[in-house]
Amino acid sequence: MSASRTRNEELARAEKMRRDFTANVSHEMKTPLQVISGYAELMANGLVPPEDVPRFAKLIYDESQAMRALIDDVLVLSRLDEVAPDAEDAADVDLSAAAEHVAQRLAKPARDAGVRLRVQLEPVLVRGNETLLEQMIYNLVENGIRYNREDGLVIVETSEERAADNAQVAIVRVSDTGAGIPPDKRDKVFERFYRLEKSRSKETGGTGLGLAIVKHAALYHGGDVTVESQEDKGTCFTVRLPVASSSSGSCGSSG
Ligand SMILES: Nc1ncnc2c1ncn2[C@@H]1O[C@H](COP(=O)(O)OP(=O)(O)OP(=O)(O)O)[C@@H](O)[C@H]1O
Ligand SMILES: [Mg+2]
Repeated sequence: MSASRTRNEELARAEKMRRDFTANVSHEMKTPLQVISGYAELMANGLVPPEDVPRFAKLIYDESQAMRALIDDVLVLSRLDEVAPDAEDAADVDLSAAAEHVAQRLAKPARDAGVRLRVQLEPVLVRGNETLLEQMIYNLVENGIRYNREDGLVIVETSEERAADNAQVAIVRVSDTGAGIPPDKRDKVFERFYRLEKSRSKETGGTGLGLAIVKHAALYHGGDVTVESQEDKGTCFTVRLPVASSSSGSCGSSG
């Protein structure tokens, strides 16, 4: 029967995704671990001249940080897979405050990359998880900086718009002046571990989980994320989320 076949196909697909994910995570962990254990072994065996020790220690430190970031991202994603929306810790979150905080956290990386960071923020409330919402914006702005050109620009906007169906929608828009994303890759960039640049280069250092987290965080909050891009002009990511209803208080609502 077709319903049960569809169900079986769904289960098989979920199982394959889980296996791929585990394989990818293990692979991504192995690289930094090899570097860490390799350098540590050299140092333990006294094979590193004293003047090189700080440099080796720094490499070990950087790789540990990369591993920690990877583990954090994997934990966030698996939590998003498991926890039902509207669970425990929902609060009214002002996206403009979250975006402001992100801009402060990323001011130095932007300066270092020679990218200007501009904010155009209107207060707008969303019901949800503050940490996750901030991470969603952080991942988008970090990409805008990382995949930009020298002397480029990143604009972070928050606002409230009325959708076609008259519902109020909270908007986060992050646009950049980078190289853009080719049309056939625009869906793929939201997949776990997908990167346009095949190997994880020292320079950019990502693992390809950032946009997967953005997508799942948007879905978790009842919204979505879309991307528009023009090659050599730049890319614009738009997250749309339901606005926290002003009647949501201790009094409840009848509708
Ligand atoms: N603003 C952008 N402009 C151009 N390409 C982008 C942009 N954002 C993402 N990409 C491409 O999409 C890929 C996936 O992005 P994603 O944020 O998921 O992973 P990442 O940045 O590689 O690693 P991380 O897990 O640290 O975020 C990137 O590797 C990059 O190739
Ligand atoms: Mg990223």
